[in-house]
Amino acid sequence: MAPTLEIHPIAGPLGAEIHGVDLRAPLEPALVEQLRAALLEHQVIFFRDQPLSPSDHAAFARSFGEPALHGAYTHVEGFPELTILEVTPESPPKIDTWHTDMTFMECPPLGSILRARVIPPRGGDTMWASLFAAWEGLSDRLQRYLDGLEAVHDFRHGFRHSLAEPGGEARLREMISAHSPVRHPVVRTHPESGRKALFVNRLFTTRLVGLSERESDAMLAMLFEHLETPEYSCRFRWRPDSIAFWDNRATLHRPVNDFWPAHRRLERITIAGDLPR
Ligand SMILES: [Fe+2]
Repeated sequence: MAPTLEIHPIAGPLGAEIHGVDLRAPLEPALVEQLRAALLEHQVIFFRDQPLSPSDHAAFARSFGEPALHGAYTHVEGFPELTILEVTPESPPKIDTWHTDMTFMECPPLGSILRARVIPPRGGDTMWASLFAAWEGLSDRLQRYLDGLEAVHDFRHGFRHSLAEPGGEARLREMISAHSPVRHPVVRTHPESGRKALFVNRLFTTRLVGLSERESDAMLAMLFEHLETPEYSCRFRWRPDSIAFWDNRATLHRPVNDFWPAHRRLERITIAGDLPR
């Protein structure tokens, strides 16, 4: 029998901490269903004190779909799907922008499961924001205007700082050739809940199709700012063995890089997604 989950929402539009569960393998199908429902409702769910081994982490992710590999990062030995996100005094954090992961892909990820291994003594929170709340916060007139538009998402734009580093073009050559710019609907309908999401982000979205460059730049700037409204967001304080599982079709996120040069190591498995519609 699946345990009774304790679900504690942590903010208005999204985010909930879930207690009363052990995520080490094997997971009961009934528990997986409960967690899937919680993710659908809260868009990002958090767990505490989950000392998962790499194979537990991989099994947990596989309960929700196929892992997606990301060629731009290193991984845990023996687990190509288990990406290492590590900040050290020599390797400062690179991304300080609100984004939805990997929207440069034809089929961006369904979500990611991020687990904390080494946490700085202070700082280093992560923020998430709801693409549903952002969509619902627009006026009817602007919603009608945006519905049906498409936007261009571009790997090169999101990784422009890495590409500018010495050897960056060579290191990321495979990713560049595998990922030409793609188009996605600006307003995406969530495949499970049917809710509408404002699906653009500052890291990868470069252009609204059919608008002049000036119009597109101005409209995107407004939408990016709108998406970052604090009332659409939640903020999570990490501890060792904390886990965050977000629906990448419903959210964007932003690291708060106030801890460097302290050491932080997170490990992430990304789950493959479907074609945005
Ligand atoms: Fe990310």
